[in-house]
Amino acid sequence: MTASKRIVLSSDHAAIPLRQTIATHIAAQGWEVVDIGPATPESTHYPRHGQEAARRVASGDCRLGIILCGTGQGIMMAANKVAGIRCGVCSDAFSARMIRAHNDANMLSLGARVIGEGLALDTVDAFLSTDFEGGRHATRVDMIETTVD
Ligand code: RB5
Repeated sequence: MTASKRIVLSSDHAAIPLRQTIATHIAAQGWEVVDIGPATPESTHYPRHGQEAARRVASGDCRLGIILCGTGQGIMMAANKVAGIRCGVCSDAFSARMIRAHNDANMLSLGARVIGEGLALDTVDAFLSTDFEGGRHATRVDMIETTVD
C-alpha cells in the first residue's frame, strides 16, 4: 500500500481507549493504520508521542496523522515543532473539514477529555474525507511554512 492510505495514530495515557476506537473505525474505511502506541496506560509524556507521530508524516511514511492527549493541545503544540507539520486541535466536524480544505493540515489532534466518542469519530471522518482546496489557500499555507523570528 502507498502512503496515500497510511495514517499514523498516537496519544498519551489520557487517550488510549479513544485512540483504539478511532483506529478500528478508520481501518474499516480502508486506512492502513500505523498505531505507534502507547499500548499501556502508565503516565507518559505527550511531546514524545506527538513528535514521533509527526516525524512519520513529515518523512512521507504516512500521509496523515491523528494524535490525542487529554485536551489535544499539548500534543498538537509538540507535533507542530516538526518541520512540515500543520496540526490543529478540533472538536467539531466543521473545523476538521476546514483545516484540511484551507490549511492543508496533515495532522489532527483531539482531546479525549474534551469530546465523546461520537463527536470524535464525526470529527475524524470530516478530516479524512476533505481535500485541500489549493489556490489562494496555497499562498497562505506557504506563508505558514515561513519561519519568522
Ligand atoms: C496529561 O495529564 C495531560 O496534561 C495531557 O494529556 C494533555 O492534556 C496535555 O496537553
